[in-house]
Amino acid sequence: MGLSKKANEIIQKIRKKKSLVGIIGMGYVGLPLVLRFCEEDFKVLGFDIDPKKVATLKKGKSYLKSISSSRISQFVRSGHFNVTDDFSRLNKPDCILICVPTPLTEKMEPDLQYIEKTTDAALQNLRKGQLIVLESTTYPGTTEELILPRLESSGLKVGTDFFLAFSPEREDPGNKRFTTYQIPKVVAGVTSSCQQVVTALYSQIIKKVIPVSSPRVAELTKLLENIYRSVNIALVNELKMLTDRMGIDIWEVIEAASTKPFGFSPFYPGPGMGGHCIPIDPYYLSWKAREYDFTTRFIFLAGEINVHIPYYVVAKIQDALNGRGKSIKGSKILILGVAYKKDVDDARESPALAIMNLLEKKGATILYHDPYIPSLPSFRKYSLKLKSSSLTERLLHKIDAAVVVTDHTIDYQRIVKLAPLVIDTRNVTKGMDRWKKKIVKA
Ligand SMILES: NC(=O)c1ccc[n+]([C@@H]2O[C@H](COP(=O)([O-])OP(=O)(O)OC[C@H]3O[C@@H](n4cnc5c(N)ncnc54)[C@H](O)[C@@H]3O)[C@@H](O)[C@H]2O)c1
Repeated sequence: MGLSKKANEIIQKIRKKKSLVGIIGMGYVGLPLVLRFCEEDFKVLGFDIDPKKVATLKKGKSYLKSISSSRISQFVRSGHFNVTDDFSRLNKPDCILICVPTPLTEKMEPDLQYIEKTTDAALQNLRKGQLIVLESTTYPGTTEELILPRLESSGLKVGTDFFLAFSPEREDPGNKRFTTYQIPKVVAGVTSSCQQVVTALYSQIIKKVIPVSSPRVAELTKLLENIYRSVNIALVNELKMLTDRMGIDIWEVIEAASTKPFGFSPFYPGPGMGGHCIPIDPYYLSWKAREYDFTTRFIFLAGEINVHIPYYVVAKIQDALNGRGKSIKGSKILILGVAYKKDVDDARESPALAIMNLLEKKGATILYHDPYIPSLPSFRKYSLKLKSSSLTERLLHKIDAAVVVTDHTIDYQRIVKLAPLVIDTRNVTKGMDRWKKKIVKA
């Protein structure tokens, strides 16, 4: 089938880099996309409901550790990048990418309010010829069941008047090995015209674009990637609890298994599961599965094991203190790293929060050190008003235990030397046998 007039127009405009790109949600996903389009000489208009973020970006400053201010300011100055909280300007961009949060409610169900609000804002300003792409992670069916009917209530028809697609984000903050350009991008349009328009757009900024047959396939692709991680992390976390009883070092086992040149991908145990994606996204699928009388048992089992790990870590801390004639109550415990992963400044859903909360409830005095998170803001479940402490000699002498939760790049040898007891959930003390009496793997 031939392309509609509007589809041809927008594809030509994209190829000439004359299309204005609107990106909604200036976060970990939205901002790298802004920069990638600007690098390719596209003009970008960013949208965010947070006036502080808008003001910061307008000044050419960054609020994300993974993005330097200079990268933003060069494009603000050159006029490539503008940003606004005025959503009536959504009629301006030719292409609109939606990168808003998709969290869970208290009852662990998809919280779609951000996608809904954004879709309504796009609807109010929808004009012929626009391409709308959802990038937020979500359950299969969101694009066609939730967004499409709302946009078509305008009277405009998908595939001829406007174009709608889903393309999941594969951003890995802090990963220096792969740039946005290098990470292949899966795309799927609602109609074949939508597919051609969305492929034309991403081909301008991504080395390899992978078209799939429907938005539902693309939506599930992203979920599969995250469920795969969640299940494998749960597997090694469960094995670590067993090997602890057996007196076997799980890290040594994984290292040995990794020498197999095929059929094995290493996953590592830790203090639990964190971040915006892996603890949350799988439940989007379990929720949708209910509609099909289906229970996603692997997802629940992995969730159960990973949610239990902070309790296991606290039990190990308790045993270690007990071995020194101490209790958690009244002990000063230093948490090393509160970010959910190494060398990032993001503590969303971090297992550190659960561990700190459990220890505090048992009467410990909690301190933390994180070079990337100077103070702890409030989170979905926890509100711990603390500031990062400096790792002075005095502090390390005065605590009863240090708990390595995140393996940030810091000097662990010094910590092990000075602290009376170190509980290590990340194997950062590997090879420090000299101090093995005061190291406990958890
Ligand atoms: N962070 C990651 O590594 C990552 C990776 C892949 C996919 N994702 C997915 O991408 C989506 C966005 O995640 P993120 O990490 O960028 O989130 P984020 O919280 O860093 O950024 C979201 C931004 O959207 C803004 N926002 C909220 N509601 C809005 C609205 N109605 N209109 C405009 N702006 C609004 C927020 O102020 C915030 O700046 C989520 O679905 C997430 O699951 C994230």
